[in-house]
Amino acid sequence: MVEQVEIFEVGPRDGLQNEARAIPVSEKIALVDCLSQAGFKRIEIASFVSPKWVPQMAQSAEVLAGIVRVPGVSYAALAPNRRGFDDALQSKADEVAIFAAASEGFSQANLNTDIAGSLQRFGAVAEAAKGANLPVRGYISCVTDCPYEGAVDPDQVRRLAESLLEMGCYEISLGDTIGHANPVRIAALLDAVVPHIPAHLLAGHYHDTRGLAWANVQVSLDYGLRVFDASVGGLGGCPYAPGAAGNIATEGLHHNLTELGYDTGLEAGQLACAAAMAQAMRGVQSNV
Ligand code: HMG
Ligand code: MG
Repeated sequence: MVEQVEIFEVGPRDGLQNEARAIPVSEKIALVDCLSQAGFKRIEIASFVSPKWVPQMAQSAEVLAGIVRVPGVSYAALAPNRRGFDDALQSKADEVAIFAAASEGFSQANLNTDIAGSLQRFGAVAEAAKGANLPVRGYISCVTDCPYEGAVDPDQVRRLAESLLEMGCYEISLGDTIGHANPVRIAALLDAVVPHIPAHLLAGHYHDTRGLAWANVQVSLDYGLRVFDASVGGLGGCPYAPGAAGNIATEGLHHNLTELGYDTGLEAGQLACAAAMAQAMRGVQSNV
C-alpha cells in the first residue's frame, strides 16, 4: 500500500507575511483559490496578529471572506492571543494555530513576552477554541537554533510540545525558523521528542537553506513524521528572525516525496500554476 504524506500549505501566511510589497487582497485570494484546487487538506491563509507587527497580514479577515471555500479543506489562521482568536472565529477560520518559541530571545522578539507569558496567552486561546469547537495546532519556533541565542536544547522543545499538547493542540509543528538545522541536529531533536510524543502528533516545518530542508524532511520521515509544512514557490521567512529563509517549496517537496513512493494527494500541474503565481507576487520569475 502506498504511504501517505500530507503537505500542509502555509504559503499564503508564512510565505507572504515577509513580503515587503503591500500585496493586494485580490492577489492573495487568487493564490488561495488556486491552491484550493490542488488537493490540500489544510492551508494556512491568515494571521490575526497586530498589524503594527506584521502589516502584510492586516487584511486576513478580507482574505477569509473573499476565498471560494472548497469542501474538505481546512483554512487555518494564526492567533497569538484571545483577541486574535476572536477575530479568527468571527472570520470563520476552520482552525487556529498558536505559536510558541523554544528560546526566550525569540519569544521576546516575536511575541513581546517570555515563554511562560506566551503560554498563558495561548492557554486562553486554547480554552476559547475548545468552547467554540475549533481545532488548535501548535507551532514551536527555533527547535534547533535561535537567531539570538544559538543552539537550543532538544529537551526544552520536548517540554514545550508537552505543554501545548496538554492545552489541547491536536498537532505540534516543529519549526526550524531560520533554516539552520541539519539532519544530525533534527535527529538529535527527534531522539529527545519522539520517545515522549508519538510521531503522528508531530509535523516538520523547515525553512530552507542550502537545500537542507529536504534532508531534514528525509530524516524526519525515518522517525515516522508524515506531515510537513511548505510554501508554494518557496516563499517565506519570518519578520522577527533576521536572515530567515523561505519555507521548503511545496512543489519540490511534492516531487521528491512522490519520487520516494509517497502519496501526497496533490496535483503537480495545479501546484506549478500556484508556484508561478506566488513567485510573480514577489516579482520573481517562476522556474517551475
Ligand atoms: P504587544 O505589543 O505585547 O501586545 O504584542 P499588546 O497586548 O500590548 O497590544 C499592543 C497593540 O497591538 C495594541 O494596539 C493592541 O490592540 C494590538 P495599540 O493600542 O498599540 O493600537 N493587538 C492586536 N491587534 C490585532 N490583533 C491582535 C492583537 N493583539 C494586540 N491579535 C502581540 C503582542 C502578540 C500582539 C505581537 O507581539 C504580535 O502581533 N506578534 C506576532 C508576530 C508574528 O506574527 N510573527 C510571525 C508569525 S510566527 C512565524 O512566522 C513562525 C512560524 O512560521 C513557525 C516557524 O517558522 O518557526 C509559525
Ligand atoms: Mg515559519
